[in-house]
Amino acid sequence: MWKHHTKLEKHSLPLVIAILIVVSIGGIIEIAPLFWLESTVEKVEGVRPYTPLELAGRDIYIREGCYTCHSQMVRPLRDEVERYGHYSLAAESMYDHPFQWGSKRTGPDLARVGGKYSDAWHKDHLIDPRSVVPESVMPPYAFLAEKTLDYRDIKEKIRAMTRVGVPYTQEMIDNATEDLETQADPFASPTQFQARYGAKTLKRDFDGEPEKITEMDALVAYLQMLGTLVDFSTYQAQAPENRR
Ligand code: HEC
Repeated sequence: MWKHHTKLEKHSLPLVIAILIVVSIGGIIEIAPLFWLESTVEKVEGVRPYTPLELAGRDIYIREGCYTCHSQMVRPLRDEVERYGHYSLAAESMYDHPFQWGSKRTGPDLARVGGKYSDAWHKDHLIDPRSVVPESVMPPYAFLAEKTLDYRDIKEKIRAMTRVGVPYTQEMIDNATEDLETQADPFASPTQFQARYGAKTLKRDFDGEPEKITEMDALVAYLQMLGTLVDFSTYQAQAPENRR
């Protein structure tokens, strides 16, 4: 057998073909089972699609390149879990298109920043980071507080999300504009909106400026829900055989 192998080693084309065959066997064994698994993401209670306002805030987060300095994934390592909280679950970013995991952390991980600070803190911090964290190197985003949110295309954005598998219902698409306005208005009736997105969904004037819906409203609404959907006081990881 080794004699034949020497022959193979001396002829580059057969060697390349043989390498490709051997490597693809390994590849197929690794990749093929994924086609037969219904899902590799464990379903977790509490995880829901973003509300229209949160989705708009997420778009601002992406537009402003916040991901160049912030990751959104708490790794399952002790120091990270102690600093940020429970490590991130796959399900928590299952409706993220594109995902925001990131590998660059000039600033802290934001996967669990929701509820850590008040809305006013976020607003002050985004307007001038050094007013609340004197040593901060984060750039200011003061214009977000002035700029009215342009949400004329929110329905289409939500519809686009359904195309990549986010389970928005037709009712959610039809009411996207109303739901966006309701979430930013503390006086609007929450019934319909919360029936669609859950009673725990935050609904208030996020930027303390009731006159208009600004980009600050959307971004703060998004930041305040990050990592808050799963209740980790009751969450238990499922054994693999119980996964659906
Ligand atoms: C140039 C890098 C950089 C960019 C870009 C950046 N940040 Fe930061 N961010 C930081 C640093 C550094 C800190 C830590 C100091 C501080 O709190 O200001 C931070 C802190 C934060 C915090 C507080 C986190 C915590 O747990 O204390 C939030 C929230 C935040 N950034 C949001 C944003 C958002 C939203 C954007 C985009 C609009 C953004 N950042 C863009 C560098 C950045």
